Amino acid sequence: MSKVFVNISLSLDGYMAPEGMTLDNWDNPDYKNWAAKWGALMGWVFNLQQFRDNLKLGPGGDTGPVNDMVKRTTERIGANIMGKRMFEGGERGWPEEAPFHTAVYVLTHEKREPWPRPGGTTFYFVNDGIESALEQARASAGERDIRIAGGANVIQQYLNIGVIDEIEIALAPVFFGGGRRLFENIGDSVPGYQIDNVLHSPLATHLRYIRA
Ligand SMILES: NC(=O)c1ccc[n+]([C@@H]2O[C@H](COP(=O)([O-])OP(=O)(O)OC[C@H]3O[C@@H](n4cnc5c(N)ncnc54)[C@H](OP(=O)(O)O)[C@@H]3O)[C@@H](O)[C@H]2O)c1
Repeated sequence: MSKVFVNISLSLDGYMAPEGMTLDNWDNPDYKNWAAKWGALMGWVFNLQQFRDNLKLGPGGDTGPVNDMVKRTTERIGANIMGKRMFEGGERGWPEEAPFHTAVYVLTHEKREPWPRPGGTTFYFVNDGIESALEQARASAGERDIRIAGGANVIQQYLNIGVIDEIEIALAPVFFGGGRRLFENIGDSVPGYQIDNVLHSPLATHLRYIRA
């Protein structure tokens, strides 16, 4: 059966996104550091060969164990689930060929028709809850796995119903001091996890947890 996994980057002080991270705040002096903070959080991935391939940025890029890990992760994904806030940022920021190449189930209260993109990504807007999104993702993923892509709100909901088999965190040595915190609103129903693997690189520590 497909695994359900989380795969995200996290600041050292526990945030998935810096305060004020929207394109509307690009020039807002109150949040002028958000793009620099996001860049520091994601810096470990930008020059990987796999990342460059996926976004069609041309040849080159770093190879090695972190690149191999990202390649394996990309290849195992049969469907993605995300929240409306993550989608809103990406709708404006991702290229026309969105970097998922699978069905993507967007949890939202907004009613909207499916949005197919070139390259195999179709966004489906799910209004009837997290279990329904997971059921639809399982049906389309086939033998492959389901990534809960983010953001924090959606990951917390899936953690709390106990369906997440694996949690992969790229812990970047940067401090945000505020923003979207990953681990809050966590209830007692969250299952136990054990460390499965740790991979070091200068820009992030790659932590992998599996169900105990
Ligand atoms: N660091 C990383 O690796 C990483 C990865 C992914 C995302 N992010 C960042 O995380 C941030 C977004 O995270 P977030 O926690 O603010 O928001 P989110 O989880 O992306 O989206 C939350 C929104 O999704 C909708 N939603 C969630 N659950 C729902 C349900 N059960 N039924 C119906 N609608 C539901 C609601 O929007 P509506 O009511 O408006 O429909 C809700 O406000 C972004 O800045 C993104 O870039 C970071």
